Amino acid sequence: MGLSKAEVLPKPSASTDVGQVAKKGNRLSCQGCNTATTWPRLKVLHLDSITQLLLDPTTKMDANDASSSRTAVLFVCLGNICRSPLAEGVFRHLVDQEGLADRFEIDSAGTGAWHVGERPDARSTLVAEQHGIELDSRARQVEPHDFERFDYIIAMDRDNLRTLERMSENNGSGAHIELLRMYEAERDGDEVPDPYYGGSSGFENVYKMVKRSCQGLLKHLRAA
Ligand code: 4NP
Repeated sequence: MGLSKAEVLPKPSASTDVGQVAKKGNRLSCQGCNTATTWPRLKVLHLDSITQLLLDPTTKMDANDASSSRTAVLFVCLGNICRSPLAEGVFRHLVDQEGLADRFEIDSAGTGAWHVGERPDARSTLVAEQHGIELDSRARQVEPHDFERFDYIIAMDRDNLRTLERMSENNGSGAHIELLRMYEAERDGDEVPDPYYGGSSGFENVYKMVKRSCQGLLKHLRAA
């Protein structure tokens, strides 16, 4: 789908340097300061230059260009308020620490719909905060389009995995559908247990296994 230039950006200002920004494959780069990044980030940094690029009738930009070069990862649990938002936050934190934010699209969802629209469970938010991580997701349910949109759909337990595999059969997915803990070195189990009905120590335990698993997942994806 093409990006409508007039709808997306305002007119350039008088200070605009024409031709400062070039589009290279899936990435945009500012030739003035050598910043090379994907569309959403560069849009913030170099709005005037981007405006000129988009107003140039020779420029063709596809709305999916920036995301097509990224690896898209979806973390899935049952309610999307405890485990998968934590996995999303931990994985994003690790990716940010490595300076790889523009290489990944990261999200989470639930196989159930009970908590759609809700913020993460307070106990997940707290354990994340205690480790310097902010959770900012809203619960949503897995949808058919996710099987086209994501390269990796990562389940917290076997029930979620089975649900996702069934959904993927109906949606013709090429996504890798896997258990998160398959990426945990020296694991003592395959599943991230559901901490919802337990105490806060369960959340710390979940955090630790999620962190080790996300470290393994990132290592795997960097090597892929
Ligand atoms: P999650 O935990 O799948 O890790 O988000 C749960 C949250 C809510 C419920 C079950 C598990 N629930 O039954 O409402």
